Amino acid sequence: MKMRSVLASAILAIATAAVLFLGSEAQEVKKDGHTDRISGSAGDVLEDDPVGRLKVYVYDLPAKYNTELVDKDPRCLTHMFAAEVFVHRSLLTSAVRTLDPDEADWFFTPVYTTCDLTPSGHPMPFDSPRMMRAAIRHVASRWPYWNRTEGADHFFVTPHDFGACFHFKEDQAVSRGILHVLRRATLVQTFGQSRHPCMQPAGRSITVPPYAPPQRMESRLLPPATPRSVFAYFRGLFYDAGNDPEGWRYARGARAEVWENFRSSPVFDISAERPGTYYEDMQRAVFCLCPLGWAPWSPRLVEAVVFGCVPVVVADGIVLPFHDAIPWAEAAVFVAEEDVPRLDTILTSIPPEEVVRRQSMLASPAVKRALLFQQPSQPGDAFHQILNGLARKLPHGEGVFLRPGQTVLNWTAGPPRDLKPW
Ligand SMILES: *[C@@H]1O[C@H](CO)[C@@H](O)[C@H](O)[C@H]1NC(C)=O
Ligand SMILES: *[C@@H]1O[C@H](CO)[C@@H](O)[C@H](O)[C@H]1NC(C)=O
Repeated sequence: MKMRSVLASAILAIATAAVLFLGSEAQEVKKDGHTDRISGSAGDVLEDDPVGRLKVYVYDLPAKYNTELVDKDPRCLTHMFAAEVFVHRSLLTSAVRTLDPDEADWFFTPVYTTCDLTPSGHPMPFDSPRMMRAAIRHVASRWPYWNRTEGADHFFVTPHDFGACFHFKEDQAVSRGILHVLRRATLVQTFGQSRHPCMQPAGRSITVPPYAPPQRMESRLLPPATPRSVFAYFRGLFYDAGNDPEGWRYARGARAEVWENFRSSPVFDISAERPGTYYEDMQRAVFCLCPLGWAPWSPRLVEAVVFGCVPVVVADGIVLPFHDAIPWAEAAVFVAEEDVPRLDTILTSIPPEEVVRRQSMLASPAVKRALLFQQPSQPGDAFHQILNGLARKLPHGEGVFLRPGQTVLNWTAGPPRDLKPW
């Protein structure tokens, strides 16, 4: 007990020192006039302006594929997969949009596959494959551009857990695989795990953050000097008894390990109850735990960055949002799933100056901006990072355009249920 309270006060000292340090460092950065730019790292590309570097043609689909779904259930605008709606809306008014498909570099098919919500508001992707196939059939039969490449110059937003595998449970997602008709396209997806059957080959997909509401978060910002008096913070499920009665498949057991090992630790402030002060609490914490759930990521990562709380990512092989532009290794702490029982030692052993370094990276407005889908979109935000990612993939390689009459995709592959009309 005594040991613990000594530890706890040591940690408080680190936390306070870290905040004080950050104050002066941030000021110094400002003197140079470089507050917005992360110099000397991959972060530079966050400032790129995509306008003039690519042209996107947006297919006009029947409203049943997109806007009608939002009219039916506006909760699609606020849940964590809302990127599919905001990317579409932002494209319609973007300077990169072209109305002439013959000059387009990229084609966008606006299908809201995660807008089919259960009464409790959970998006269920079971009809997504049928819907997606129907939308592609529509596009392929009315415009010549799909058949020309079978989708290799088309991009889709598939934000659900496990992306275009369209299932929230990993084993079932893996057995489905990426929907066959999407296999040549570029997927803009939240899901990111290296060498996974639901992830496209390296570099093809664009990994984006889950949607977290910018205005709601920004309205709850505390003064930057607020002391970080909590060492490690987490609110959320440890077990998902309904979907995982045995308790060790959910989060591959990592969340259960957090709870079983640290529920009474004085340096961990963890609970399954989400309080009304959740956003404020994150601003009073040094570390915010971001363990995997069913998928490797959650909106916690975005919230932690916005609130300047160092994300502790526990998700082996995770591919983080805009990983080719945001220097995550300098901003977050990564802990292997099997090391969760030692999480207390791992975190308390991080030298204060390293904590401070991460905090100053998180204080960068460019990084925060890049993780948010603003409405209307703003320079540097997540929508612009998607465009930057698409622009960096240009020009298209030789293999994109098929020879006349050549076909690659198999329209009849997949479970029989997916082949039914939508
Ligand atoms: C594209 O190919 C499919 C068959 O693979 C065909 O049914 C469709 O009519 C073609 N689209 C156009 C615009 O020619
Ligand atoms: C397409 O997939 C189906 C189902 O897996 C298979 O039976 C069929 O032989 C495939 N067709 C081609 C041309 O590969």
